[in-house]
Amino acid sequence: MSFPIDRPRRLRRTENMRRLVRENRLDPSDFIQPLFIVPGENIKKEISSLPGQFHWSVDRVVEIAERCHKAGVPGVILFGIPTHKDEVGCQAYDDHAEVQSAVRAIKKSVPDLLVITDVCLCEYTSHGHCGAIHENEVDNDATFELLAKTALSHARAGADIVAPSDMMDGRIAVIRQALDDGGFENIPILSYAVKYASAYYGPFRIAVDSAPQFGDRRGYQMDPANAEEALREVELDLEEGADMIMVKPGIAYLDILHTVKTKFNRVTAAYQVSGEYAMIEAAAQRGWIDRKRVILESLLAFKRAGADFVLTYHAAEAAEWLKEN
Ligand code: PBG
Ligand code: ZN
Repeated sequence: MSFPIDRPRRLRRTENMRRLVRENRLDPSDFIQPLFIVPGENIKKEISSLPGQFHWSVDRVVEIAERCHKAGVPGVILFGIPTHKDEVGCQAYDDHAEVQSAVRAIKKSVPDLLVITDVCLCEYTSHGHCGAIHENEVDNDATFELLAKTALSHARAGADIVAPSDMMDGRIAVIRQALDDGGFENIPILSYAVKYASAYYGPFRIAVDSAPQFGDRRGYQMDPANAEEALREVELDLEEGADMIMVKPGIAYLDILHTVKTKFNRVTAAYQVSGEYAMIEAAAQRGWIDRKRVILESLLAFKRAGADFVLTYHAAEAAEWLKEN
């Protein structure tokens, strides 16, 4: 069948016709809101590299957690900024550090809201790398113990899901074992299975002061040129016990997201990262793009590509827009 019998425009003529044939929809339940927790009291301070996003102290973070919950966002993911950084990232696995305290505060005031914790060391290490350093290299196996301790500490604080983002080989199995041994066999692991060595993380590294002090992350995060390798990463993490997998960054890697979802048919998340957020906000500020439409169009792209949910700095706001309609 071809023109003039087939005229695709027939199904685009009115809003109700378009609604009827729409293939993908955004819903507040599609989003996870990242939050940054800092030491101190009564702090809600705008992050220079992420306008509209804030550093929150533990006593104030409940404000934003409640806003997310009210908007229908199912969960938040926490990142911490420590009071001091050291060689082995001690505060990552300190039960009384900022993230652990924020988990307890949020679970106390908004118990239904899922609290996910990012399990990594780079925010906590003086060298800024995601693992333990041995002879100027990031030592894969020496990092296991630190990651396991971090995940356990988060689980003890009450985290609902732990999300390792370090990209060490074999860490999912180690974290699974540690959680099970600690009696947390019901806590799922959201693995940053496919995480590229990306320049799009720039604003995040400014926000948490986690830029590597020597070298870069290309020795553990993936080469942006590689697609087949992503499937291998996912396969390994699933074998090791990942309950959900993530592809990161977002828009620039939609091909990977789509292939991963199609090949494995497992719960797959996408992370629309800080650089993507910053680019939208910067262009919108200059009046070069329609901010709301670009945000919703970008988020819809993740759904269309196959994401089950999206970690996005626009989560609370987008969910509020969707709720209004
Ligand atoms: C920590 C981590 C990073 C991000 C999430 N977890 C930064 C990095 O790998 O350098 C990036 C998030 C963003 O850019 O929004 N490993
Ligand atoms: Zn890291």
